[in-house]
Amino acid sequence: MDLSGKRLVVTGGAGFVGSHLCARLVDDNEVVSVDDFSNGEREWLPDGVEVVEGDLTDPDVAAEAITEDVDGVFHFAANKNAAADDVDQYRFNNRLTETVIERMDEVGVDNIAFTSSSTVYGEAPRPTPEDYAPLEPISIYGASKLGEESLLSVYAHSHDFTVWVYRFANIVGPRLQLGAVIPDFIDKLDDDPESLTILGDGRQEKSYMHVEDCVDAMCHVVERASDDFNVYNLGTRTTTSVTTIADIVSEEMGLDPDYEYTGGDRGWVGDVPRMRLSIEKLSALGWEPEGSSDDAVRRATRELLAE
Ligand SMILES: NC(=O)c1ccc[n+]([C@@H]2O[C@H](COP(=O)([O-])OP(=O)(O)OC[C@H]3O[C@@H](n4cnc5c(N)ncnc54)[C@H](O)[C@@H]3O)[C@@H](O)[C@H]2O)c1
Repeated sequence: MDLSGKRLVVTGGAGFVGSHLCARLVDDNEVVSVDDFSNGEREWLPDGVEVVEGDLTDPDVAAEAITEDVDGVFHFAANKNAAADDVDQYRFNNRLTETVIERMDEVGVDNIAFTSSSTVYGEAPRPTPEDYAPLEPISIYGASKLGEESLLSVYAHSHDFTVWVYRFANIVGPRLQLGAVIPDFIDKLDDDPESLTILGDGRQEKSYMHVEDCVDAMCHVVERASDDFNVYNLGTRTTTSVTTIADIVSEEMGLDPDYEYTGGDRGWVGDVPRMRLSIEKLSALGWEPEGSSDDAVRRATRELLAE
């Protein structure tokens, strides 16, 4: 789908990734953000974006935002912050996606891009390609994403939808909020510049991607991939350990704290300690990340400190 002259709905448009995508799309398209502001901010929405405020598990809210003249939906709204064993998160995210898809089907809107996650793979060999199986998530969040993906697959194969699924690595950049490792370290070091508590053993290794690259790759995929159901990993080719993130954040803050590790090989129950996605499929479509995972972490740290 060409991303110009379109009417596009961004669910969760006022959130971290959604607000960056709205900014990218708004010059060439009519953009409608639908968000209940439970985890997003109205002021992050760029000028020119139409705002629908409401909870998208409510079909009336979906009906207000998704009208017959809409060309496509970028579906970002989700609860991503629940405890690892909170099964309500599974029900909530799936309910949200069902409501969006049912409304699209009702009014004949059949293009949807969905933000899934590396967590659908569980603890898989690395680099993990899109066709890796079996998919065995170890968190409720990962299970919710896999459930939503499978519902979208049905609509792609039995309801003539075109679906783009992005399996994100860890996305970082301006507006990233507490609960993510970089803002958490900044916050902790603001409180106590002498010491930093690090969850796990610090050797957890994950791939980080800057949000500007992420938005660029998302648009690239929607404009070029044209199967009924298109699944793409979005990430960088390298990883950054948690201790390296602590080093980068400390260095950028001009500090030299002592590190205290809570121990164990992962940060929390349901945390996948090692993640690196294969981005060969994305590369074959003509998109390459500008820098490494470490570069993304350093750039995001500088931007978050400047906020
Ligand atoms: N940030 C990452 O590293 C990452 C990684 C993998 C996947 N994802 C996925 O990408 C998407 C965007 O992530 P993000 O980091 O921007 O999250 P975010 O929490 O900043 O954005 C989600 C937005 O959805 C809104 N929202 C939540 N429930 C809603 C509801 N019921 N009705 C209407 N709006 C609602 C929130 O207010 C928020 O603005 C999410 O689906 C997330 O699961 C993010």
